[in-house]
Order: sequence, then C-alpha cells, then structure tokens
Amino acid sequence: MQDIHSQRILIVDFGGQTTQLIARRVRECGVYCEIHPWDMHAETVEAFNASGIILSGGPESTIAQGSPTIPEQILNLTVPVLGICYGMQALVNQLGGQVQAQQSHSEFGYASVALQGACALLDNLSDRDESGVRELDVWMSHGDRVESLPDGFEAVGTSDNAPIAAMVNNDKNCFGIQFHPEVTHTVKGAQILERFVLDICGCDGLWTSGNIIDNAVNSIRKQVGNDEVLLALSGGVDSSVVAALLHKAIGKQLTCVFVDNGLLRLNEGDTVMQTFAQNMGVKVIRVDAEEQFLNGLKGVSDPEAKRKIIGSLFIDVFEQEADKLENVMWLAQGTIYPDVIESAASSTGSAHLIKSHHNVGGLPSNMRLKLVEPLRELFKDEVRRIGVDLGLPSSMVYRHPFPGPGLGVRILGEVTKPYADILRLADDIFISSLVKHDLYDKVSQAFTVFLPVKSVGVTGDGRRYNYVVSLRAVETIDFMTARAAHLPYDFLDEVSRTICNSIPSISRVTYDISSKPPATIEWE
Ligand code: XMP
Repeated sequence: MQDIHSQRILIVDFGGQTTQLIARRVRECGVYCEIHPWDMHAETVEAFNASGIILSGGPESTIAQGSPTIPEQILNLTVPVLGICYGMQALVNQLGGQVQAQQSHSEFGYASVALQGACALLDNLSDRDESGVRELDVWMSHGDRVESLPDGFEAVGTSDNAPIAAMVNNDKNCFGIQFHPEVTHTVKGAQILERFVLDICGCDGLWTSGNIIDNAVNSIRKQVGNDEVLLALSGGVDSSVVAALLHKAIGKQLTCVFVDNGLLRLNEGDTVMQTFAQNMGVKVIRVDAEEQFLNGLKGVSDPEAKRKIIGSLFIDVFEQEADKLENVMWLAQGTIYPDVIESAASSTGSAHLIKSHHNVGGLPSNMRLKLVEPLRELFKDEVRRIGVDLGLPSSMVYRHPFPGPGLGVRILGEVTKPYADILRLADDIFISSLVKHDLYDKVSQAFTVFLPVKSVGVTGDGRRYNYVVSLRAVETIDFMTARAAHLPYDFLDEVSRTICNSIPSISRVTYDISSKPPATIEWE
C-alpha cells in the first residue's frame, strides 16, 4: 500500500480565522496536510518534506514592525507555493514588492475579481464573462493591499479595492491571491485549491476514507503489538469511532469501559451496548454508577462544583474498572486534529476559562498507561466519514454533541433522579420530533433543560402546579458563537403540547432564544 502521508501540503498559519478551513478543503481533495505556526523551526520545515506550501491569512499587517514572516527555508524551497491574503502580502513584502496600508482600501465580504493573463491556478476559471473579461465571485477580508510586485511576478487579477488581487510567478510555481478560496462564498474556491494541490503540486488524492482506515489499522497493530488496550467509551462520535477502529485492528485485545453515570439520555446506555457489544462483538464492560454519581451530587447546586464532581467521579469509577484488568498496557483516546492544533496554540496563549469542560476523553494522566490516539490527524468530518465506513449507524455518527457531564449541566441546580427521569422523557420528545420533521440535521445542537421551579397550569377542570422545561436549539459553525435556531412556531407548538400532555409533572414549556454570546449554549 502506498504511504498516504507521502504526498503532503504544509499549511503555514499566520493566525487566520479560516486556517483550519484551508486544511479541511485540502483534505477534501484527498491530500494529507498539516498546519504549523509561522514561527516553526527550520528543521520542521525540512523534515516535513512538503509537496507544496500554502500560506494562510492572518489578522496582522505585514508592514507592521515585528509582524509574522514566512520562514526563510520556505522561500528557498522549489516546491509550489500559494499565498492567501496575508500569505500573499508576506510573499510580496519578503520578495521585494510593496504592500500599503490604507483604511480606504479595506475590502470585506463579497468582491468580484477580473482575471487576466496566464496562470495555471486560475486559467479558464470564471463565474461570469463581462465583455470578454473573466470575473470570479470571491470573499475578501483585508485592510492592506499589494501596490507593486516583486521581480518575476505578474498581476493576473484585479478587484475594485485591490489592483493586484492575484499574482503569479509562472517559472517558480508561486501564486498569491488576495481572496479566500477556502470559504464557500468564493464560488470556485474548492476548484482553485484542488488545482493547486492536485495539478500544480502533483498530489494523487491518496487521502481517502478507505486508505485512512487501512493506514490506521496498520499503525495501531504496529504500535500496540499483542498488548491489550483500554478505552473509555462514551457513545459520543469520537470514542465510538475509536472503538470501531480499534476493534477492526485488534479485535479482542480491546476492552471498552462504558460508565453509565445516570446522566445520560433516554435509553442511551442500552443503545451503546446494542451497537457495540451485541452488533459488533466489541468487548464492553458496562458500569452502572448512577447511584454513586447521584450521591456525589446530592446537595450540590453550583455548576462548576457539579462539573468537577462528575469529572472526578468518572475518573474514580474508570480507574476501579481498569484496575481489575491485569494485562492492559495502553489507553486509547479520541483526540482529534483540532484538539492537537488548539493545545499547541494554547500552550503559548492564555485562554480565558468560561467553563471547565470535562471530556470523557480527558482521562487520568497518572495511569501509567501508554496512549494510543488513532484520530489525532483527523478533522471531525473525516472522523464521521470513517465511522460510517466502519459500519457505525449514521444516527450515532451524525449526532449532535453531548457534553461530558451530560444531564448534570442540563438540570439547573441540584441534580436528582426524579428530575433526570422527567428531563429524559421531555428531551426524547423534542429530539424525536426534530427527527420526524426533518429538522434534526438543520440545527447544530438541540436539547431540553430542566428548571426546578414550579409554575401553574390548567388541564381540564384541574389545576397543575408543576415543573418547567426549556427547549434549546442552536445554529453554529464552531460552537464558539451561536444563534437560537428559528424553528417553526407550529413545530414548537406541537412539541410543547406533546410534552405537557404526556408528562404530567411538566406544566410549561419555553423556547430559549438567547444567542451566544451573551448566553452559552448549555445553561450551566
Ligand atoms: P457552551 O455551553 O460552553 O458549549 O456554549 C459549547 C459546546 O461545548 C459543549 N459543552 C461541553 N462539552 N464537556 C464537554 O465535553 C463540558 O463540560 C461541556 N460544556 C459544554 C456544549 O454542549 C456545546 O456543544
């Protein structure tokens, strides 16, 4: 089998908002790539052995003192280079051209670029022909602009606010575009990136789901040999795909521990057992720890305290189970590529703590087990794709995210079993209604929140004095910001009636219309 990493694009990150998108688009072309910060070591550049290089956009100005620069080693390489936005301006600056800053030249959002001349990247591409001139509809986001080109370059694109919106040095296969091909608003963006990585860099498209699986299976076998591996299976996408992948690679050498903490959704534990143990033959130990978790949470109403208790109880329970298994040498984790990039970035920055997120994947570091992380190179969409190819049900693979502390952060204040039981029923009605009305995949995350306050209601001749739930559904790209989903009123009306009619202990249903910020997605 050909090494799927043998052809690879190096993406140099200047801190752009859309750098990860560039990487995802390159992967979609079937080519492996990695993101590295602009100040990476010279040896990293050499060892990477890139088939081509993409320089990302970034928030700074190339002409400001001390602004990020392209590593010298890259400028000395002979492989194709594509500079995007800041990346293009950095090329211009460092190769002897001129970039100018002027507020009046800013260009944000839609722009039209008129193409001219010969350029392997943009030849024969257009969204419109305006009296013989090829025009591209693109998305721009820049303050500075290129005023004069370095030797050997020619301008091949112009927009209203950027006389040089695209440039090329055909002899050196070096390209610069002021616009962002990685965002979908640039209509021909995917095609431009595909041309760069496949035609210009000569990559073959080896990075396919089937090849990724074969490669991962081989590396897992090589890494763990005949040793036994332990995995905390939560039923979420990442740990589920790790389970399926490890099972394919090493079968019975894998043992999964699934901790039922009593804070899961309706029938969730049974579904996990059915999918993995019954259908796939994976060895799964189910630990019923509901009582232990509910006892630990008794009397605790502070959200951060609840998160910490749930997190540390999880570790206790998991360790107790792990201790019973004698031959385990490895701990498998569902770390994915964005986690790797973010933890590299946060090792220098100072991230502000809003909530201490607890992930089932974030396991004890003192377990003295070696780590196996077969998803470390993959983006979430790649994880999902291989999950489906490994035979996991798409309802599991395309599920909305579910927080590690589960219903523990969706029952406001103290958590009790009766509250969790009521919430499970209401949430199930909401989620299955979304599925029934074909709305589930149109929202990024949806769930129900239990409010331990009582409200008056009336049913027939009777008066009710009972609990309140709130429905929450959001639309978001990255979960950092979100807006409440504009669900149809008729739909909300149906869900509200079904909940109040079938769950007597609920007297009122509300819909949360707050966006993030200022709210967060979860209520606690
Ligand atoms: P917030 O509420 O911070 O949520 O806007 C953003 C995303 O993160 C999920 N979330 C968590 N995930 N452990 C997790 O694994 C947590 O403690 C946690 N808290 C929030 C939330 O569901 C949303 O998708």
